[in-house]
Amino acid sequence: MEFPVTRMRRLRKNQNIRTILTENKLNPEDFIYPIFIKEGLEDGQKEHIDTMPGQYRYSLNDAVKEASRLEEIGLSSVLLFGMPIIKDEKGSMAYSKDGIVQQAVRKFKVETDLIVITDVCMCQYTSHGHCGIIDDDEIVNDLTLNYLSKIALSHAEAGADIVAPSDMMDGRVGAIRKTLDLNGYYDTIIMSYSAKYASSFYAPFRNAICSTPCSGDRKTYQMSPANSNEAIRETKMDIEEGADIVMVKPAMPCLDIIKIVKDEFKMPTAAYQVSGEYSMLKAGIAAGYLTSDSIYESLLSIKRAGANLIITHFTPEFLEGSI
Ligand code: PBG
Ligand code: ZN
Repeated sequence: MEFPVTRMRRLRKNQNIRTILTENKLNPEDFIYPIFIKEGLEDGQKEHIDTMPGQYRYSLNDAVKEASRLEEIGLSSVLLFGMPIIKDEKGSMAYSKDGIVQQAVRKFKVETDLIVITDVCMCQYTSHGHCGIIDDDEIVNDLTLNYLSKIALSHAEAGADIVAPSDMMDGRVGAIRKTLDLNGYYDTIIMSYSAKYASSFYAPFRNAICSTPCSGDRKTYQMSPANSNEAIRETKMDIEEGADIVMVKPAMPCLDIIKIVKDEFKMPTAAYQVSGEYSMLKAGIAAGYLTSDSIYESLLSIKRAGANLIITHFTPEFLEGSI
């Protein structure tokens, strides 16, 4: 039917009508909160991250404390990032039983009922800052798989519910699944960063966590923002290798990719609203150009595109009801 019989504004007449006709809603359980835990930091001395206003690096105890506070107001999952004191060529502290993330996982599992997800990568732990093992100026794919498997296994042994490989090496999901299964960790879930782009929106994160590569960039392993067919191939491979949950990253610059991935594979799909997306909105609000409604709208757009789970630094503000 056409106008004047059909009038779309009828459906927007007042807030009650609009509410019952709302197609997409954000729920507390949609949110995953990324937490940075810095080894050696004194309790009570959280460090403000200047490139990400309102976000902090926490000591182990303080991270658990903050997450517990959020658990009381509806948080269900955390994504842990560790910052080690010692870095080396092979990122040894990434798979050490006593690494900061392994310690953190154990403590979170004892002191909270949160779903504990760990970032599986090498870049915070390697002296060169790349996400893999370097030989002769090359990031060596197949050799790196052994290290990523060891990292994932050490997280599973510590009690992680979900491991999330973010490195973008080929074959890592299969290698990790095989290692987990061989060691009896059949139930450890893999959430793979399937379509991860080489994005400038990661800049505040790298600054926050000291993982900027000393030389070169990540373009030989992360995807070009110009490509979408490639995202389908990447995601398909991860699913065939055993990924349980797939992820698109970044989120707002990739809403089309989230939609394609969801429509094509019907998998549980996560989207990562990255540091640059967070800081951009924060800066806009601080300057008075935007309001906190813009945050809500950004999250809604990610959900509408097809994400079941949203990894975002805005998680506390959402749970606190301030956006
Ligand atoms: C490292 C990693 C990065 C992010 C998550 N894991 C940075 C990168 O790939 O350079 C980015 C997160 C963010 O910007 O919020 N593998
Ligand atoms: Zn990395």
